[in-house]
Amino acid sequence: MYYIDEELKQNILSEAPSDEPARQLFFIEECRKILSERAEELKRHLTCCVNTFGCQMNAKDSEKLLGILTQIGYVPVETEDADFVLYNTCTVREHANVRVYGRLGVLKHSKDKNPDMIIALCGCMMQEEQVVEKIRKSYRHVNIIFGTHNVYMLAELLFDYLCTGINRTEILKGTDRIVEELPSERKYPFKCGINIMYGCNNFCSYCIVPYVRGRERSRRREDILREIRNVAAQGVIEVMLLGQNVNSYGLDFKEGDPNRISFPELLEEVSKVKGIERVRFMTPHPKDFSDELLETIAKNPKIARHIHLPLQSGNTEILRRMNRKYTKESYLELVDKIHEKLPDVAITTDIIVGFPGETESDVDDTIDVVKKAAFDNAFTFIYSKRTGTPAASFENQVSEEEVKKNFDKLLKVVQETARKQSEKMTGKIDKVLVESVNEQDSSLMTGRLSNNMLVHFPGDESLIGSFVDVSLDECKGFYFMGHIV
Ligand code: 5AD
Ligand code: SF4
Repeated sequence: MYYIDEELKQNILSEAPSDEPARQLFFIEECRKILSERAEELKRHLTCCVNTFGCQMNAKDSEKLLGILTQIGYVPVETEDADFVLYNTCTVREHANVRVYGRLGVLKHSKDKNPDMIIALCGCMMQEEQVVEKIRKSYRHVNIIFGTHNVYMLAELLFDYLCTGINRTEILKGTDRIVEELPSERKYPFKCGINIMYGCNNFCSYCIVPYVRGRERSRRREDILREIRNVAAQGVIEVMLLGQNVNSYGLDFKEGDPNRISFPELLEEVSKVKGIERVRFMTPHPKDFSDELLETIAKNPKIARHIHLPLQSGNTEILRRMNRKYTKESYLELVDKIHEKLPDVAITTDIIVGFPGETESDVDDTIDVVKKAAFDNAFTFIYSKRTGTPAASFENQVSEEEVKKNFDKLLKVVQETARKQSEKMTGKIDKVLVESVNEQDSSLMTGRLSNNMLVHFPGDESLIGSFVDVSLDECKGFYFMGHIV
């Protein structure tokens, strides 16, 4: 293994700058030195594998983590028999946690075969005390644990582990710090996510996010724009602005602070960055979706014709108990307004089935909204009880059998509605951003319309990362088959 002696470690530590990101860049270099020696001894590259669970936020964090690891000298691979394996975890539903435990069991065998292997865990699941306790007790082959607030510290934690070989856990309960300008390894050269804010203040009663990601913190507009200018200069043409509730972007800056601009103003500025052709955003909360935002989208063709507008439930009493702060009627009014002002916008949503106390008639209200709103797509989730959230102690948790029945009934309507909506586009010609070679058939390319619809069409790899006009020939439900015109 790699471990260095205590005196050398103390000497290196005494030289580490205290400012960020200089401190992390220093540790990246120190890790690189230790690991390149080890690679020479082994006469091979050291490899890393970052596995991401959960949402776009985690995907973005993983690009940063992979950026740090590649800078250190690790070569990224897809398989988990790598020398450094990192799981960036999610805890929004219990199922995600169960999967991580299962895979950690499998990793133990890989580690027995490769003593050089380092296993690290980070992300939302690590912000839960009982999870970390369990891992430290029962999964001792995990070497480094960190959380959502100190993703940027990976190199420092790895340095410590490389020096001592002692498992290291470093979780911050919260932070007001945003560390910028660390390396990032993007999955696609032509599109990427951009964090505009972190955390959530909404405390929906079922949701664990505010507890594991902390309160809302907006990034300064200049920092966001600088990052976008940089990625655009490297060839990115589509960005997705990320936040748990993008409508409240900027509100945490004081009145009079030049950073205090509204989300629509930020969208405008982003769309003006040279080279940026398409701007997406995720996720707006229906309770504060402004007319200003609608108008900004309407007059700016670079803003994608897609709004993801989580409904969660179509029953007003359930919505009240979910602490969503809108009603069935006000949600439908908003959807009508969107359809009226932006007829070409696709609206997608998230729905939870089986919230405590939910009856079949409540689910019928949700189905009614699905029909009236004519969602282009909906992600349906079975309610998962999250320890520490208010809903975990609500009475009348719904039986598995009833949830299953309601879920299936809802899913059927969701699928029918989505298909009907998609079919309306048959025969149209629209711009596709070509993303990849089709996984099943390599003579086809796969891309996305502005409204987020997937399209497959004959073409070749040279098209990846560019826009082409495609005729939408045949609707297959949630995707189209087409041809370039
Ligand atoms: N159970 C099921 N689904 C949940 N979501 C958030 N918390 C829970 C939970 N406890 C869903 C919501 C949210 C999406 C990202 O995950 O629908 O919009
Ligand atoms: Fe969770 Fe609600 Fe915040 Fe979304 S808005 S992250 S559902 S608390």
